[in-house]
Amino acid sequence: MSKYRICPSILNADLANLDLEISRIASESDLLHLDIMDNIFVPNKTFDFPESERIIVTSPIPVDVHLMIADPDQSAAAYARAGAASVTFHFEAAHEVGSTAEAIKSAGARVGLAIKPGTPFSAVADFLPIVDMLLIMTVEPGFGGQAFMADMMPKVSEARHAIDQIPAPDTWLQVDGGVTLETILKAAEAGADTFVAGSAVFRSPEPAAMIVEMKNLLNRGRLL
Ligand code: DX5
Ligand code: ZN
Repeated sequence: MSKYRICPSILNADLANLDLEISRIASESDLLHLDIMDNIFVPNKTFDFPESERIIVTSPIPVDVHLMIADPDQSAAAYARAGAASVTFHFEAAHEVGSTAEAIKSAGARVGLAIKPGTPFSAVADFLPIVDMLLIMTVEPGFGGQAFMADMMPKVSEARHAIDQIPAPDTWLQVDGGVTLETILKAAEAGADTFVAGSAVFRSPEPAAMIVEMKNLLNRGRLL
């Protein structure tokens, strides 16, 4: 079994036919990545809570919620209670990382902590023992279709090294933004194991085949 996970982001899917879009990728995807934006933390707005809840409840695969909202401390656990498998909030937006993580965990979801390109790994290093996933953004959050920031790879390597020091870790290291067939191996080589891919998947004429191709590349890359 592959140690890698691919999480298609529906941000750039055809939102008018979302259920169909999700059904096209479900069999090949590990998790469905759901980007929640509030037009405050990032200059863009996406799904409100009722819409998010509907997607979480009806998705045929586990949902990986990525909160890009200004005040996640109060609302993060509600996504876990709605049934999300994983809820990620931004370090830059949180006031109480520890209690927000605990609230998500108590509601039954994995806890993710995200950092923007300008935030160093050292800012979140102390939280590694209490999270299940670290998300290192490889674009400025807010929009799909941006170019992968290869200069984030030293930060990914630093995080990988720290995660590997944790005894018996099941801590995932996710990258999000600009992940394509051209960039995914760079992120894997730096130590990422969980990959969000939005436009590369949903702008492909064969979204499911694109995910398979990404996984094949990751598994071949590992053998080289
Ligand atoms: C950007 C979002 C991403 C976005 C990725 O802020 O967090 O999940 O959908 O899209 P691509 O893969 O097109 O960069
Ligand atoms: Zn995202």
